[in-house]
Amino acid sequence: MNNLRIAILGSGSMGTAILDGLIAKGTPADHIAVSTKSAAAGNALNNRLGVHAYSQELDSDANILAVDQADVVLVAVKPAYVLEVLGEVATSLKPGALVISVAAGITTQAMEQTLPAATAVIRAMPNTPAIVGRAMTGISAGSRAEAGHLELATQLFAAVGKTMILDEPRIDALSTISGSGPAYVFFLIEQFTKAAEHQGFTPAEATELVNETFRGAIDLLLASHKSPSELRRQVTSPNGTTMQAIARMEQAQFDQVFAEATDAALRRAREIAAGK
Ligand SMILES: NC(=O)c1ccc[n+]([C@@H]2O[C@H](COP(=O)([O-])OP(=O)(O)OC[C@H]3O[C@@H](n4cnc5c(N)ncnc54)[C@H](OP(=O)(O)O)[C@@H]3O)[C@@H](O)[C@H]2O)c1
Repeated sequence: MNNLRIAILGSGSMGTAILDGLIAKGTPADHIAVSTKSAAAGNALNNRLGVHAYSQELDSDANILAVDQADVVLVAVKPAYVLEVLGEVATSLKPGALVISVAAGITTQAMEQTLPAATAVIRAMPNTPAIVGRAMTGISAGSRAEAGHLELATQLFAAVGKTMILDEPRIDALSTISGSGPAYVFFLIEQFTKAAEHQGFTPAEATELVNETFRGAIDLLLASHKSPSELRRQVTSPNGTTMQAIARMEQAQFDQVFAEATDAALRRAREIAAGK
């Protein structure tokens, strides 16, 4: 992996998170070329990390320059620009280069139609904890991708966290869980923090109590190898205080709310894929 040349087309929050992860895991900066729209963003990446950075503002061929000699081309522009960017670089790809997109809703079929017939394509769905090396990334092979391509994509995303290979029809479902999931967790933390303030804690105290409780609970869950239900029962003594709180939450039918929320996200993912 560290010997390969990698191009990252679009280096915003997701592209940069993956770039930082690759460098942290030992990919030499001079093996990586990135493209951005603005010159300022490109210069900042060049100054901070020493990668080859090309910006569309300074050179309309920025994407073509970035893919020159690249073994892996990671596309991390907004979904609306993915096919346009692939069209730009299609005839400049190194023979055998693997193209990976992280764009929501852009199918491997659409990418394959835009690229030369032999180009293998992979679609991936990381999430924002990639920024701290804790992503959960779903990876799906296009029709021309082989086991070696999936292995390469897995190694690349392992630089920012954990990976799961799945068939493409399931990637929209994955995006409603791990893709959008950090937002659900932040929403729960927001509500729980408001509850702490309601119980008389200052905003700073409430933040510390809630953040440490989430961190402690997830660390305990992962370290104990017990199920969340089992751990919950350990905190819930019969007729105690926690039992009262959980009973009220059960009344609110959280299970149904989560099922309906992820159904709504899935419907929207399918609309986006259909161009709506
Ligand atoms: N953020 C997430 O949570 C997340 C999760 C999973 C997947 N994704 C996917 O990741 C992709 C990028 O999302 P993001 O949140 O990282 O967006 P972002 O922060 O807006 O980054 C987009 C990047 O694309 C660059 N760009 C725009 N037009 C370009 C062009 N024609 N050629 C080259 N570069 C161009 C921008 O350059 P400037 O900075 O100079 O404008 C910027 O570096 C999306 O397709 C999204 O679906 C994001």
